[in-house]
Amino acid sequence: MNKDPDVISLNKHAWNKVAKIYEQENIAQINPLFEYFCNQLSNGSFILDLGSGTGLPYAKAFIERGFKVLGIDISSQMIKIAQNNVPKAEFIEKSMTDLDFKDKFNGVFSSFTMLLLDTLLFKDVGMRIVQSLKKRGLFYLSLNEPWEENADVDREAIVDIMGEKMYSRAYTKEEVLDTFIPMGMILLKFSREIQCSKIFGLEHTTVYVFKKG
Ligand SMILES: C[S@@+](CC[C@H](N)C(=O)[O-])C[C@H]1O[C@@H](n2cnc3c(N)ncnc32)[C@H](O)[C@@H]1O
Repeated sequence: MNKDPDVISLNKHAWNKVAKIYEQENIAQINPLFEYFCNQLSNGSFILDLGSGTGLPYAKAFIERGFKVLGIDISSQMIKIAQNNVPKAEFIEKSMTDLDFKDKFNGVFSSFTMLLLDTLLFKDVGMRIVQSLKKRGLFYLSLNEPWEENADVDREAIVDIMGEKMYSRAYTKEEVLDTFIPMGMILLKFSREIQCSKIFGLEHTTVYVFKKG
């Protein structure tokens, strides 16, 4: 297995540098499938928020719905901001590549975080997510997808965001399903949307909600 230290250390450095700007720009919008995901979960469910960022809007929204939240993020700066924004959630500095939970969560939530992994890390983290879910647990995943069919997504994966170089790769629906379906996950919902923001520009985004079979 390739636990490429470059992707992880590059992104840790970059996200620590951009944390304040990311918070100020406040670009994250609640996706309609977020409501669907919450509605499938029973009261008091325990959610793992993967790459929890500033804690806004998602960790806060989970707490307001009565869920228990553990947020993990590789950036110590993001963790400080999130602790301040959402004191009722727990946040710890940890890379998703080091996830080591077993049958613990009713839901795992990953909003624009697994796109920061190369393909080998993506598969490995996928396996760790499935292990960390309880039986019938739910997994929400949002990603970017390529603009055109034959785009060289690996060559285009080092990007400049907010003045910092980081790794960010688009994933096709086929790649995502080829990763998670063999791991026993069932696709419940899928959506596509074009988004535009000051920080990331135009993006083709996808959202998947899976259930552990
Ligand atoms: C695009 S932001 C998304 C933040 C939040 N999930 C949202 O939707 O607003 C990506 C977040 O993932 C975090 N991150 C990057 N690589 C990570 C890793 N290997 N493990 C955990 N968090 C990571 C960054 O620090 C950043 O907070």
